[in-house]
Amino acid sequence: MQARGLAGAPISVRREQRMKFGYFDDQKREYVITQPDTPLPWINYLGCEAYFGIISNTAGGYSFYRDARLRRLTRYRYNNAPFDLGGRYIYVRDNDAKEFWSPSWQPTRHQLEKYECRHGMGYSIIGSEYKGIEARTRYFVPLGENLEIWQLAVTNHRHHATSLSIFGGVEFCLWDAQDDSTNFQRNFSIGQVEVEDEVIYHKTEYRERRDHFAYFASSVKPAGLDTQRDKFLGPYRGWDNPAVVDRGQSENSIAYGWAPIGYQHIKLNLKPGESQQIVFLLGYQENPKDQKFDPPNSQTINKKGAKATIAKYLSPTNADAAFAKLAQYWDGVLSILEVDTPDEHTNRMVNIWNAYQCMATFNMSRSASFYESGIGRGLGFRDSNQDLLGFVHMVPSRARERILDLAATQLPTGGAYHQYQPLTKRGNNDVGSNFNDDPHWLILGVAAYLKETGDWSILNEPVPYDNQTGSETPLYEHLQRSFQYTLDRLGPHGLPLIGRADWNDCLNLNCFSDTPGQSFQTTTNKEGKVAESIFIAGLFCLAGRELADITVQKACPSHGGSGKCAEGEAEGKKYLAEVAKMEDTIRKHGWDGEWFLRAYDDFGNKVGSKECEEGKIFIETQGFCTLAGVGLNDGIAAKALESTKKHLATKHGIVLQQPAYSKYYLHLGEISSYPPGYKENAGIFCHNNPWVIIGETRVGNGDQAFDYYSRINPSAREEISDLHRCEPYVYAQMIAGKDAPTHGEAKNSWLTGTAAWNYFAITQWILGIRTSYDGLQIAPVVPKNWKGFKATRKFRGVTYNIEVQRSGSGNHVALTVDGTAVKGDVIPLPTDGRKQVAVKAVLG
Ligand code: GLC
Ligand code: GLC
Repeated sequence: MQARGLAGAPISVRREQRMKFGYFDDQKREYVITQPDTPLPWINYLGCEAYFGIISNTAGGYSFYRDARLRRLTRYRYNNAPFDLGGRYIYVRDNDAKEFWSPSWQPTRHQLEKYECRHGMGYSIIGSEYKGIEARTRYFVPLGENLEIWQLAVTNHRHHATSLSIFGGVEFCLWDAQDDSTNFQRNFSIGQVEVEDEVIYHKTEYRERRDHFAYFASSVKPAGLDTQRDKFLGPYRGWDNPAVVDRGQSENSIAYGWAPIGYQHIKLNLKPGESQQIVFLLGYQENPKDQKFDPPNSQTINKKGAKATIAKYLSPTNADAAFAKLAQYWDGVLSILEVDTPDEHTNRMVNIWNAYQCMATFNMSRSASFYESGIGRGLGFRDSNQDLLGFVHMVPSRARERILDLAATQLPTGGAYHQYQPLTKRGNNDVGSNFNDDPHWLILGVAAYLKETGDWSILNEPVPYDNQTGSETPLYEHLQRSFQYTLDRLGPHGLPLIGRADWNDCLNLNCFSDTPGQSFQTTTNKEGKVAESIFIAGLFCLAGRELADITVQKACPSHGGSGKCAEGEAEGKKYLAEVAKMEDTIRKHGWDGEWFLRAYDDFGNKVGSKECEEGKIFIETQGFCTLAGVGLNDGIAAKALESTKKHLATKHGIVLQQPAYSKYYLHLGEISSYPPGYKENAGIFCHNNPWVIIGETRVGNGDQAFDYYSRINPSAREEISDLHRCEPYVYAQMIAGKDAPTHGEAKNSWLTGTAAWNYFAITQWILGIRTSYDGLQIAPVVPKNWKGFKATRKFRGVTYNIEVQRSGSGNHVALTVDGTAVKGDVIPLPTDGRKQVAVKAVLG
C-alpha cells in the first residue's frame, strides 16, 4: 500500500502481515525466533543460582550477581529507543571490504540473510549469516559458577579466504545500579580497570570497601582491546557505529574514570569453509577481605581465584562439558512432572515453559526483567511465597531456604516486611509493612512445601523476627502469628482490615493521596480502622484450613510430631472454628446477592457492589473465595462464578473488574489512576485468572476451567503474536482489557505470580495431580471431550506412572494402583520400598 508524503514522494506503509515471529521446537525445549524485529524484546534468563543474566533475542540485556540493584555487572539503559539497546554485543568486520555488522542484529541492524535466536533452558543461541559469514553464539551460565560463557563460532561460507576482525565485549556497571544511573558527578571519576594477560578486570571501588570485581576474557589472543567507552565509540557515535570497529583497530585504552568497558579485538583469517570458535567469558569474583590485593600491600587485585576459573572455561571442551551438565540439570528438573494430554499447548507449557518460568519467578520474584528494573523492588513477601506453589517440587531444598529467609523478615506482630533485598536478606524499610494479606501467604507456602516433601523438621527451625538475633521461635509459631495477625485486626463488620493494601496493591483504601509523586503503596492518611477486605477474608479461610491441617498432622506420630494427636486436633479445631466464623461473616457482609463484594472503604461503603457506579464486580473475591471453598455447599460459589463469566470474561482472559474506573477516586487510590483497561483498572491481570480456574474445578466445571486456562495460555496465543506482542512462551503480568484500545496486548512479561498460579491450576486442579500429606491425590476436572491423559510424577522418591481414562462425563475417580483397586482418590505412599508405581484412574 502506498500513501503520498508531504513532498509528493511515495511512503511505503508496511502492513502487519506476520502473525508469528518464530516457532516452538519442543524436542529441544526451545523457542526459535526467526526474525529479529519482534514486537517487543523477547527475552530469556541465563543462570539459575547466584549469577544471572537477562538476554533478549538481539543479545541485549544485563548481568548481575544475586541482586540486580546492589551487584550489577553490566550497564543497561531502560526505556531506550530502540527499546532494547545495550548488551552482550559482538561485531564482525570484513577487513577487506571495511564493512562491519552485528550477528545478533542489534546494534547495527544490518539486513541479515539468515537469522535465528533459540531461547532454551538457561541458554540462548543467537546466530546469523551475512554475505557468506556465519556467526553463532551460545550464551549460558555454568552451574555452580559465577560467570557466563559466550561460545562464538564463525564460519566462512565464501569461496575465498577472508580476513575478519571480531570485537566482543560489555559495558560495565559501577555495581550499584541505582547510583550508576543517577550520581554522575561521582561516577565519572571512579571507574578503574586492570589488564593482565589480555584479560580485562573491572575494579571500580575495589580500592575501598568492595571485595569483588568482574572480568572479561577471550580464548583467542586479542590483537587489541579497549576499556574506555568513549575511546571505543568515538565522539558522537553510538553502539551502532563504534569508531574502533569502523577503523578495525583497537585503541588499547585504559579507563580511569568515565565509563569502563571490556572490549576485545580478535583477528581471524578463515579459509573457504573454515570455522573457528572463540570463547568469551564475563565473570564475577569475590576475594576474602584480607586477601584482596596481590602483593598484599599493593593496590593490585589478587587474581589467583579468578585466573583458575578463567583458564578452565576458556577451553571449548570444558565449556561444552559445562553446557552438557546444564542440559542434564534441566532434564532432571523437568522430569519431575511430565504430562501427555490431548492439548499441545498444555503439554508444552506444563512440560517446558511454564515450569521454566516458575524457576525464573522463584529466582527473581518481581525484581529484574525488562519491565522490572532491578532497582525498585527486591523480593516480595507475598510474591515469593506464591512463587513457591510452582517451584517447590523442582528444587525443594531451595524452597526450604527461601521459606526460612521470608519468615525471618516477619515482624513480631505476625505482619511482614513487604519486600527484602536478596543480597542482604533484610526487610526493606522504605516500603515497610502493613499489607494485611502478607502473613497468610507464608502459611500457603509452607503448606505447599510440607505436602511436597513431608519434611516436618522445617516447622521446628528457629527463625527470628525482623532478622533480630535472640528473637527466634520455631517456624511453626510464625504461622500461628500469621493467622493471629488477622484476628487482631478485624473491622466493623468482623472482616479483616485491609491496611495499606491486600493482594491488589492498587486498592489503597487508607491512602487519600492528592499530591503528585506520593507512593500509593506507602502513603496512608487514615488510621485504617474501617476499611475491610473480603479478599483477605477468603485468603484467611484458605490459610486457616491449611494451618489446621498442618497442626493436626504435625502432632501426629506418622508425620514426625510428638504423638499428642489430641492436642493437635484440638488446636486445629480452633482454627477451623475461626474459619467457619469468617465464612459466616463473608456470607452476611461480603455477599452482594450475585457475587462476592470486594471491600468496604474508609467510609464503610461497599466496593465491588451492584450499588457502586463503577467497579461493581471484582475478580479477586470471586476467584479466591471459590478456590478457598467458601460457598461451595450453598451454591453461592457457583453463582459467583456465573457472574464472573457474565461480567468479566473476555476472549483474551478475565478482566479484574467492571465497569472500569473512568476517573480518579481519592478514596480508592492507585487502582483508579490507570487508564481503563490497563493493570488493576480492568486489565486482564493474569495472576488471578487461575483463581477462577481453580474455582471452576471446585464446582466441577472442567470445560469452563480449561477454556479460561487456554485463553491466557501464551502458547495458545502464539498465532496472534502481532496482537499479543510479548513472548509466546511465558506469561505476562497483564493483557489489556476490553476497555483499552489495545485489548489483547500483553505487557510486563516473565515476572508475575501468573506463572506459579497457572502451573498450580493446570497441574493440581485441572489435571488434578495434587500433593497431599498422605500421598498423591488424583482428582482431575478436565474437559468432557478429553478421552484421558497420561502423566509421570516423581513424588517423595517414587515415580508414579499415571493413566487417566474417561468412562463417563463426570469427575468421579476410581483408582487402581499396581493392579489393586484403592478406595478414594489418594494413592497411599508405598511402604514396601517400591520406586515405580502404576496408577490407573477411571473418570466418570
Ligand atoms: C504486582 C505485585 C503483586 C500484587 C499485584 C497486584 O504483581 O508484585 O504483589 O499482588 O501486582 O497488585
Ligand atoms: C504498582 C503496580 C502494581 C504493583 C505495585 C508494586 O502499584 O500497578 O501492579 O503490584 O506497583 O509496587
